[in-house]
Amino acid sequence: SSAPNYHIASIPGDGIGVDITQAAKTVLSTLSTASKAFTLSYTDLDWSSSAYLQRGYYMPEDWATQLRKHDAIYFGAVGWPSVPDHISLWQMILPIRQQMNQYVNVRPTRILAGTKSPVAACQKDPKLLDWVIVRENSEGEYAGQGGTTHGHTKDAIATELAIFTYVGIERIMRFAFEVAKSRPRKKLTMVTKSNAQRHGMVLWDKVFYEVAEEYKGVVEFDKMLVDAMTVRMVEKPESMDTIVATNLHADILSDLAAALAGSIGIAPSSNLDPTRKNPSMFEPIHGSAPDIAGKGIANPVGAFWSAAEMVRWLGNGKLDETAGRLMQAIANVTVTGVKTRDLGGEKSTAEVTDAVCQEIVKLF
Ligand code: NAI
Ligand code: MG
Repeated sequence: SSAPNYHIASIPGDGIGVDITQAAKTVLSTLSTASKAFTLSYTDLDWSSSAYLQRGYYMPEDWATQLRKHDAIYFGAVGWPSVPDHISLWQMILPIRQQMNQYVNVRPTRILAGTKSPVAACQKDPKLLDWVIVRENSEGEYAGQGGTTHGHTKDAIATELAIFTYVGIERIMRFAFEVAKSRPRKKLTMVTKSNAQRHGMVLWDKVFYEVAEEYKGVVEFDKMLVDAMTVRMVEKPESMDTIVATNLHADILSDLAAALAGSIGIAPSSNLDPTRKNPSMFEPIHGSAPDIAGKGIANPVGAFWSAAEMVRWLGNGKLDETAGRLMQAIANVTVTGVKTRDLGGEKSTAEVTDAVCQEIVKLF
């Protein structure tokens, strides 16, 4: 057939990352067969904390070359209690985001049918919460600059330098305005902390208003300090649509967003290189969840939603409908109460996966 084939680098990683990556591959395979719209071939990479403990490294030296041979990367989660988290993050996920030029992290949040929001108003009317958080993914507070002196003594001094560049800010603002413009409400809220952080965040604000000039009359926009933002997200969720924030701020706000939408287990993320010169990476926002790993009860919905976003990205406009059907299949399942424990259900990862596969088949 003429359906395009895409090469995917699959990195399940640690803990529930392994369970949910397997589940996502099952669902993608069903979607591929049912839709006949695309096929996938995988390279399975055992880049994980357990591999690190055995051989001393997460990724081989030629990791970037290996990844660049693929159209996209599907990622589970990395991190395990036996390895300090800053080592697992800095030996895998952060270098991938940086070197693959994935300077945007897109995190949509909606309340899926059948899931409960802890916000009473949203529980009544789930449509009140419908956001896309656009996270700066290459610099800011996670730029990696800093150092430690006298680390093993009580004279220890450590610095953690946040880096904000004109180029880095401008490109994320432009991306965020385009996302806002593409959505029905055409509204962008910019998050900052420029009252206390008077250099980097002030540049962040300045570039935002410069780019905003180009969208005047097209996209409505406003500005929030990050602390006040947490309150607004809980009290007036309907007052926002697209949100742009720095690496750290958006990391925190998107976990809050996921919790307000019902569970961290449903939230997806796309690490995008908008230039399409490098593969983009798709992963649920949650971590390896050591507390529930190996029990077969991880919620695979965030992984499925991430898979849908991967299909959408790969199709570059041609697979939107196919990705939409996967989202419909997920909603058809959650609405009937086939849910894992984090959503108040009692089903296993495998049972939810089977149910979503059956719905996919029905939708074609
Ligand atoms: P976490 O997201 O792994 O878990 C937080 C809580 O949410 C736990 O109680 C967990 O059971 C629950 N949870 C998470 N995902 C779930 C799912 N799909 N279904 C049901 N329940 C779910 O965050 P935590 O505990 O802070 O970190 C654990 C490890 O994961 C650490 O090593 C951390 O560094 C790493 N991590 C990795 C990330 C990544 O690979 N992108 C992101 C966040 C954390
Ligand atoms: Mg996070």
